[in-house]
Amino acid sequence: MIPCEKLVYLPFQPTTDGLVCDGVSVHTIAAQVGTPLYIYSAAAIREAYRSIDTAFAAYPHAIHYALKANSTLAIVRLLRAMGSRADANSGGEVEVSFRAGFAASDIVFTGVGKTHDEHQFAISRGVGTINAESAGELDRIAAIARALGREARVALRVNPDIDAKSHPNISTGLKSNKFGVPLQEARQIYRDRLNLQGIRFVGVHIHIGSQITTTEPLRRAAAALVSLALELRDDGVPLEHVDLGGGLGIAYEGRPMITPAEYAAAVLPELRRAGIPVVLEPGRAIVGHAGAVIATVVDRKQYPDGRRFAVLDAGMTELMRPALYGSFHRIVPVLPRAGGRISLDVVGPICESSDVFARERDLTPLEVGDHVALLDTGAYGAVMASNYNRRLLAPEVLVDDGRWEIIRRRQTLDDVLALES
Ligand code: LLP
Repeated sequence: MIPCEKLVYLPFQPTTDGLVCDGVSVHTIAAQVGTPLYIYSAAAIREAYRSIDTAFAAYPHAIHYALKANSTLAIVRLLRAMGSRADANSGGEVEVSFRAGFAASDIVFTGVGKTHDEHQFAISRGVGTINAESAGELDRIAAIARALGREARVALRVNPDIDAKSHPNISTGLKSNKFGVPLQEARQIYRDRLNLQGIRFVGVHIHIGSQITTTEPLRRAAAALVSLALELRDDGVPLEHVDLGGGLGIAYEGRPMITPAEYAAAVLPELRRAGIPVVLEPGRAIVGHAGAVIATVVDRKQYPDGRRFAVLDAGMTELMRPALYGSFHRIVPVLPRAGGRISLDVVGPICESSDVFARERDLTPLEVGDHVALLDTGAYGAVMASNYNRRLLAPEVLVDDGRWEIIRRRQTLDDVLALES
């Protein structure tokens, strides 16, 4: 087996001077910016984007970065500069895409439960493709487009009833999930609306889940979508693309993971059956490894049964994934202390028992005041933060080419209270 670090670029590395991000001292950044904070590596984002782009180089493809993974403007702009396009999941993400400089035609707008206002905004701005989640949504899009005197470019999201074999909370392709329309109904929905004024079918869409760690569900999803696309072609639907969604997993535990090249090798033979350009919507695989949460140990305690806790100044408000999915994140001290490893529960400060980052994790000793990094938190980290307990959104720092800058400042209580009367 090839170790994970041989396959992907991991920006956070221990050195004799402590943890660095692309050679820049994490301790230095934490000392100046304060904790909790997020640090991202621009190099890691570029490298991950390139590896997907390269894997699909032999086939016409467009990468639409899924903003939901991390939509901080500087990150979105960085990806646009790489040639990425955008996958937006709400009116807010469509707006952020525009503000980051994307052309309307570069944006796919996905998501269950889009509102009338979101549709109106997307259609009037001429968004590239709207991925509809139901027959009813297609009809509503058509009506809004007609009222605006426009034609909306649409794709229908199909639900193939394929188990992504990921965490149930982030699996979306089963018939029990709320996403898309059953695959067997899709052809008829297209046929019935082929001449519907206000919409033009340009694609078909599928997304079976996130953090998928085996190729087979992804290949099966591609196979199902391509078979549908071939049927639709027979019906005279002039498809411009098939959209495979996102879902490529990353190695949170350092174990080998499917690579973009393996993903491409699994789906390309299916895609070639139709020869229609592919749209990809990766999020996690582009930004996941690039980010870390940096926190400070604010308390230590030990129970009579021997259980030891390290309490951090970051919790589920900064990184919700462990509380929500029981997810694993590597925890490394920024300046490791000498001494043997001890078993620690690493927890946050929130008044919730699920506010736990790790149970009985073997770590070098941690004292109050020490900084630790929670790794691989570039995706679905900062974007899922909240103000629970009146906590303030953490700042974000981008390291690029030996320099670093704050790309989002720390929220202040005045920022939060400004909304209140
Ligand atoms: N396209 C669609 C339609 C999606 O719903 C998603 C993610 C993506 C693309 C991007 O998927 P990715 O390549 O990042 O797997 N908060 C969860 C993940 C939720 C994913 C939601 N949809 C987590 O922290 O694991």
